[in-house]
Amino acid sequence: MFKIDRREFIAALGGIAAVNLMSHEARADALEHYMEDRLYAQTEGKAADGSGGDFPSAAQVTSQITTRHYRRGVGGLFVTTNPAEKVTQLPAMPAKPKLLDFYELRFTRTRNHCYQSANKALQNGLSEEVVLACLLHDVSQELIRVDHGYYGAQLFEPYVPELTAWAIRYHQPLRFFADEKAGYTYPDLYRNIYGYDYVPPPHVQAAYEAAKKHKWYYAAREVTVSDLYAFDPNAKVNIDPFVNLVAKHFKQPPEGLGYDNSPSAHMWRSLIYPDSPL
Ligand SMILES: [Fe+2]
Ligand SMILES: [Fe+2]
Repeated sequence: MFKIDRREFIAALGGIAAVNLMSHEARADALEHYMEDRLYAQTEGKAADGSGGDFPSAAQVTSQITTRHYRRGVGGLFVTTNPAEKVTQLPAMPAKPKLLDFYELRFTRTRNHCYQSANKALQNGLSEEVVLACLLHDVSQELIRVDHGYYGAQLFEPYVPELTAWAIRYHQPLRFFADEKAGYTYPDLYRNIYGYDYVPPPHVQAAYEAAKKHKWYYAAREVTVSDLYAFDPNAKVNIDPFVNLVAKHFKQPPEGLGYDNSPSAHMWRSLIYPDSPL
């Protein structure tokens, strides 16, 4: 059974004074991240031969599959990973939903991380198209986690600059490969969730090799660089710095996302109606 240690959680947020300063929403976001971290930590274990240090082996990660009541690739909107919890009633969406409505009502598990990532890209003076890619890069994990870069690119392609969708797609395979010169080291988080000796499958390696030769490689790489340190549960972030950017670069359909017959309209509808059985 997965239990929250309240004292440990408060300590992880910087103590009771820090928690009191947080909005209700920030606390909920922080709790979500904390639980995910603890779940990842449950898969940790010493390698049999000691060579993996504190990280599990890929075989150990595989052996954990049947200990869960869900699959790790499922979208965050569709399951609670805490077996002691039930999913919540979701607020209804407006009749003609806009991107910002999704951030407010559906992207509640991923938005904090994405805001941090986009803030970092802003501070680093990256182009508006790349900042937008950072803002959007992981929200598709609400729908499905596995291959989320590809789903994300497909979801946004009808509405954003081509470079933005390209960077969202390729940030995913690029995260498995270091580029020290660009400032990207292989993350320990991946050693935890895939195993220290995990080798990306051939299709991921091929995507990386193709992306490396592409003129927009830097854009997808910048998404991974801005991704790296964007997991601070105490960060006070919101959509405000990006509202103008979204207005400028995101082609909001007048019918509302989900109702414009675009190639990804059904994906938006799945986010609007995740309790629909068919
Ligand atoms: Fe990602
Ligand atoms: Fe990310």
